[in-house]
Amino acid sequence: MEKFIVQGDTRLCGEVTISGAKNAAVAIIPATILAQGKCVIENIPNISDITMLFKILRALGASVRMLDRTTVEVDTTYITEPVVPYELARYMRASYYLLGTLLSRCNRASVSMPGGCNFGVRPIDQHMKGFEALGATVSIDSGMINTKADMLLGAHIYFDVVSVGATINVMLASVKAKGITILENCAKEPHIVDLANFLNSMGADIRGAGTDVIKIHGVDILHGTTYSIIPDQIEAGTYMAAVAAAGGRLLIRNVIPKHMDCISAKLTEMGVTVEEEDDTLLVSRSGPLQRTNVKTQPYPGFPTDMQPQIAVVLSLAQGTSLVTEGVYGANRFKYMDELRRMGGQVQVDGRVAVIEGVEYLTGAPVQACDLRAGAALVIAGLAARGVTELTQVQFIERGYEDLVGKLRSVGADIRVEEIPEAQEAEAHIG
Ligand code: EPU
Repeated sequence: MEKFIVQGDTRLCGEVTISGAKNAAVAIIPATILAQGKCVIENIPNISDITMLFKILRALGASVRMLDRTTVEVDTTYITEPVVPYELARYMRASYYLLGTLLSRCNRASVSMPGGCNFGVRPIDQHMKGFEALGATVSIDSGMINTKADMLLGAHIYFDVVSVGATINVMLASVKAKGITILENCAKEPHIVDLANFLNSMGADIRGAGTDVIKIHGVDILHGTTYSIIPDQIEAGTYMAAVAAAGGRLLIRNVIPKHMDCISAKLTEMGVTVEEEDDTLLVSRSGPLQRTNVKTQPYPGFPTDMQPQIAVVLSLAQGTSLVTEGVYGANRFKYMDELRRMGGQVQVDGRVAVIEGVEYLTGAPVQACDLRAGAALVIAGLAARGVTELTQVQFIERGYEDLVGKLRSVGADIRVEEIPEAQEAEAHIG
């Protein structure tokens, strides 16, 4: 096990390049199961969630071959047994996309209940409702979700909640269903559009992705394709928040500025300068940070996956800010206990965090409780006076490619240290 050691109070200056989007990649890689032929996917992020997905595909019988550092070739021709056991599925949320793709390909699928970041109850009723509307039966038995159908038939489905996962999963299951499927009240995140573009490049007929209504004309065959994944909106936002908190000037390369609008607008309100040009953002902050309120919402609202990072920036702003978690419950504020240990003045009341800005945070030993909370505590450490020791960093490695290397290249004083086994054991007893 490793920990990060951050010597804070250092400005960030230089250039950083954003990797491919995790939440697009975790949908697009399972979607290769639908192709007859090989798919070549470019701009793959080098993160542990993707390594895990490759492991699952290989266990199912696929060939997965890295052609270079960011390009993978996937051939799913020899997949026959559509079963993903607990040992493989439990580490990541996106394993549930194998339900939609395997159901479409094999007319049946059994996938263990998914893992992923723990923000409390994360139901999948809307995925199941969608599969059932397409003509499948769904049951849960001994921790496995089992679904099967004689034949999938297009249907009109209205989602009761706006869900990224349900929109993607039902899109995956319906792309080869007979007839027309209409999905209403869909999520509109950039990775949903990216998945639809990927499927269309394989011969699918999907229109309206990125709006509330997606219309899918089922096709019989999808062929192999070559496709490049969009840049990661949340990784880019995390570097923007880092320079906002620590100060300095960062050129952030390989972004789609339109996807960043919701984040750029908030940071601008707070006194951060954001300049867009083609596929770059130049972000700088030298003056004091101003308070503001943030409410997380589905896209194009402010992303819940940026809530902890922006809260850390607000903890250093002048005045009192409110952060409302509009997607998940209070569980997504678990990291606030750690921020308090660093001197943050924060109170949580249900879905609302009240943040009283302080002049400075102080380094402390803290623990990541999930992926984005971990990234937020790194940001807190970069801005804080003194040394921060962050443990449970495996959460961060699930979704950020080489966070330490990228931060070091722009002047951060951060390093990785092995945790001696004895200390690890003590931590587990605690
Ligand atoms: N919901 C339901 N029923 C469902 C599905 C969702 O009630 O069947 C609720 C959830 O409980 C939640 C809300 O709907 O309150 C939104 O959940 P959504 O389904 O959109 O989330 P998800 O698909 O499980 C993805 C990302 C998350 C990100 C959310 C919201 C992936 C693999 N995960 O999760 O990403 O927080 O969308 O944008 O795409 C992360 O990257 O750190 C991460 C957690």
